[in-house]
Amino acid sequence: MKNRLGLSLIVALAGLMLIGVMALFVLTPERSSTDAIGGAFTLTDQRGARVTEAALKGQPSLVFFGFTHCPDVCPTALFEISEVYKALGPKGDQLKTFFITVDPERDQPETLKAYLESFDPRIIGLTGSREEVDIATRAYRAFARKVPLEGGGYVMDHTALVYLMDKKGRFVSSMNFERPPEENAKRIAELF
Ligand code: NI
Repeated sequence: MKNRLGLSLIVALAGLMLIGVMALFVLTPERSSTDAIGGAFTLTDQRGARVTEAALKGQPSLVFFGFTHCPDVCPTALFEISEVYKALGPKGDQLKTFFITVDPERDQPETLKAYLESFDPRIIGLTGSREEVDIATRAYRAFARKVPLEGGGYVMDHTALVYLMDKKGRFVSSMNFERPPEENAKRIAELF
């Protein structure tokens, strides 16, 4: 009886610790890091132009990884980003956003173009060969994995963080969309 109680306590404590660690990741989306996030890449935008990491120089940028078939995370993030652009108004021209697909097999430039028409026109969609996409994903320490669906097809499990980069292309923090768009806009404008 005593042993079982002890075991239950250990299991409960381990569970609590696990929840604690998970909460740390989930609840602190703005944790900053000095670890290098970002790096060299060569991709193609929704209009067919080649884009490299040089595009991050000269203005702050938002970078995130996703895919057009994403059921909720990506459209929500793109909506939130569009709200930030709306709050920035014309000043938003000084902010670049790169939506990098982790599903280049399905997300060709024209697919990205059609998909992004529902969001702020300043959002740049990027795709490339599987290898080019993997290089970019690794540079940003992002995670992406194909998950087959029952009955065919697949979704991509992927990092949902939206990275805020400064005008030198250095990682500042991840975006916290719990904040109102006006607040995020103000925070970004400080980097102009
Ligand atoms: Ni997504």
